[in-house]
Amino acid sequence: MYIERLSTGVPELDAMLEGGIPKGFMVAVTGEPGTGKTILCLHFIAQGVIERDKCIYVTTEESRESIITQAAQFGFDFSSGISEKKMIIIDALMGRQDEWSLQSLDVEELMNKIIEAKKTLGHGRARLVIDSLSAFWLDKPAMARRYSYFVKKVLAKWDFTIMATSQYAITTSEAFGWGIEHIADGIIRFRRFVRNGFLRRYILIEKMRQTNHSLQLHEIIILPGKGLTIVGPVEMRKEDIALPKHIMERIQRSMERKETEIP
Ligand SMILES: Nc1ncnc2c1ncn2[C@@H]1O[C@H](COP(=O)(O)OP(=O)(O)O)[C@@H](O)[C@H]1O
Ligand SMILES: [Mg+2]
Repeated sequence: MYIERLSTGVPELDAMLEGGIPKGFMVAVTGEPGTGKTILCLHFIAQGVIERDKCIYVTTEESRESIITQAAQFGFDFSSGISEKKMIIIDALMGRQDEWSLQSLDVEELMNKIIEAKKTLGHGRARLVIDSLSAFWLDKPAMARRYSYFVKKVLAKWDFTIMATSQYAITTSEAFGWGIEHIADGIIRFRRFVRNGFLRRYILIEKMRQTNHSLQLHEIIILPGKGLTIVGPVEMRKEDIALPKHIMERIQRSMERKETEIP
């Protein structure tokens, strides 16, 4: 059966996805800060402009200007996209009074603004990025799942294929960020490790409904002028993610010490 798929804008990632993300899906893009979530979203929107999709980018952590500048570094001309009415960036950070700004991180306000933007751009296949969606329930993590479901339901009628980023941090409560992953049709997870003193980034497709997708972790690099690039598949060995041996030994010794100190 033929399934219409939208290119992510990263050819090697499309190949890992049997061609791309099935039309109409809501995909959770998740991972620690600085791993490449926003950059993948920029590719997805830039590809949408090329394919003449209606494109909407909601930004909560960076201003509209910062998104435009970052996109330009990879050769994506978002300024022209906006002036040619092919895309709209909804700014949820600066709280300005212009037409495409949000006054607060309120899910209902967000839905209204997205629908208004879609009506402005017109009928037809559309791409939506919400970067990040988890920001809308920062102060009420217990609502994550309910809000995620609400967003998916409201937007279902509007011909969107969606990338919604979700931040998770080891230090925050478990509820944080999880809502999106539970209701998403797909999950793309970014990881990072420091190996031999260098930051390395990885991507893993954890879920994509209706898709015989790659199950392998792939290393990525972010290149000026090009953006997110897949280096190739990796096999994670225990040594890659474990702490260095001398540190493990130190931890072991201190644990033994603690035991002997117990009266
Ligand atoms: N022009 C550039 N050239 C090379 N690397 C870049 C460039 N711009 C950003 N990066 C890299 O991308 C990282 C930010 O990735 P980003 O997608 O914003 O992370 P997040 O997962 O937090 O959204 C930066 O920390 C930097 O390492
Ligand atoms: Mg980001």
